[in-house]
Amino acid sequence: MRIIRTQNTKELSARAADMILAQVILKPDSVLGLATGGSPVGTYEKIVESYQRGEVDFSQVTSINPDEEEACAQYDRIIAQAGTIDLQLLGIGLDGHIGFNEPGDYFECNTHCVNLTESTIEANRRFFNSREEVPRQAYTMGIRPILQAKRVLMIASGKNKAEILHKAFIGPVTPQIPASILQLHPDFTLIADAEALSEL
Ligand code: PGA
Repeated sequence: MRIIRTQNTKELSARAADMILAQVILKPDSVLGLATGGSPVGTYEKIVESYQRGEVDFSQVTSINPDEEEACAQYDRIIAQAGTIDLQLLGIGLDGHIGFNEPGDYFECNTHCVNLTESTIEANRRFFNSREEVPRQAYTMGIRPILQAKRVLMIASGKNKAEILHKAFIGPVTPQIPASILQLHPDFTLIADAEALSEL
């Protein structure tokens, strides 16, 4: 596991965007796993800027996104057809979820429907007008394609991520903290700001 410490979210976004852009420049037909949530927004903005300046071409790129709202078996077929993900971008939930793989008794391998935890529902509240509108369930890519990705890049910023980063990467590998399984990935990079790393 590599850790890249940044001063703030802006720098974090630029560093993550550079790694994704380099991936596409090196391998124009890359399969990218792109996270939803708040963490990657700045990274995506940087990528869009670079695209608009004509620095990168996404015409051959395939994007497989971990938190898709689609039929499970069909989505597993789409993942299989795309082949191994070259670079998987992830955030981390306050309860340690990756994609929407919530804490549980075992690691779920395939795309599945999850009941979101109260912590996740509360965290997603900011994307909706009222708490009632926040989905209680989600479909998510399973742990298998994430672990099989050639490279995994996680971005995390802010003090509220400090405790879960400590639990996930200093504590034991456990399905109760799904992100902890990334300790076993051979090419895993965490880009985080000083606040998020304050307990690591
Ligand atoms: P966030 O969510 O990026 O909005 O903090 C992380 C996640 O749910 O994976």
